[in-house]
Amino acid sequence: VRKVRTHHLADMKARGEKITMLTSYDMYTARIFDEAGIDILLVGDSAANNVYGNETSLPVTVDELIPLTRAVARSTKRAMVLGDLPFGSYQASPEQAYLTAVRFMKEGLAHAIKLEGGAEMAPTIRKLVEGGIPVCAHIGFTPQSEHALGGYRVQGRGDAAEKVKADARAVADAGAFAVVMEMVPGDIAEQISKELEIVTIGIGAGAGCDGQVLVWTDAMGIRGPDDGKLPRFVKKYADVRGQLLEGAKAYAAEVKSGAFPGPEHTF
Ligand code: KIV
Ligand code: NA
Repeated sequence: VRKVRTHHLADMKARGEKITMLTSYDMYTARIFDEAGIDILLVGDSAANNVYGNETSLPVTVDELIPLTRAVARSTKRAMVLGDLPFGSYQASPEQAYLTAVRFMKEGLAHAIKLEGGAEMAPTIRKLVEGGIPVCAHIGFTPQSEHALGGYRVQGRGDAAEKVKADARAVADAGAFAVVMEMVPGDIAEQISKELEIVTIGIGAGAGCDGQVLVWTDAMGIRGPDDGKLPRFVKKYADVRGQLLEGAKAYAAEVKSGAFPGPEHTF
């Protein structure tokens, strides 16, 4: 199988073929999503919530994310594996960002990295790209800035549209090969996608983007009733939680009743 490269993504944009991205944090989901033909697997810092049990993405560390990234990379034949730089591991300087990104490539075996921020990250993006690291930017609502942005809110409504457009322009000019746009009004995201030469990947940014990304634990229904409300932009494609719950209950019932193990499971 041919690996998905940045130039393939550019070709897909040129052809008008939509690009698919899902998060993945472990071997089995990586293998399954790769087999399904998902183009990019993002080992998101959303692992903070979805693996490590935090309420936000802020607490997760480089040392926690790198082993997950490596597991996903080892389990993927075709998909591009995108490492996600966590809060505090790149904002101090382009040098800090470069050293962290190198760890994600060397130890995490990532093929490219993602970082949050627009125009203010341009020098950092330039530094990474000059060092041979493909960079995906992330603009609009950026979860690592949740406290600064005042919670989960759509970015780029009204006058703020100009800021999102300027951020998109700046990260493209700095050499990013792609940009994730999160919670941006659909008409603005569509306009940016048409004007920008690089690939745009939307999450809560409408159908006009060049591709889409969802957090797999949201999209595949593994979250339970106590795990918070799904954002409006998520669609549920499977009921993994229901399947696991039924399976675990059936196993427990058979062990309690003595139905498992049977003679065929016994030496
Ligand atoms: O960490 C993550 O899951 C992300 C996606 C929401 C794009 O950054
Ligand atoms: Na992220």
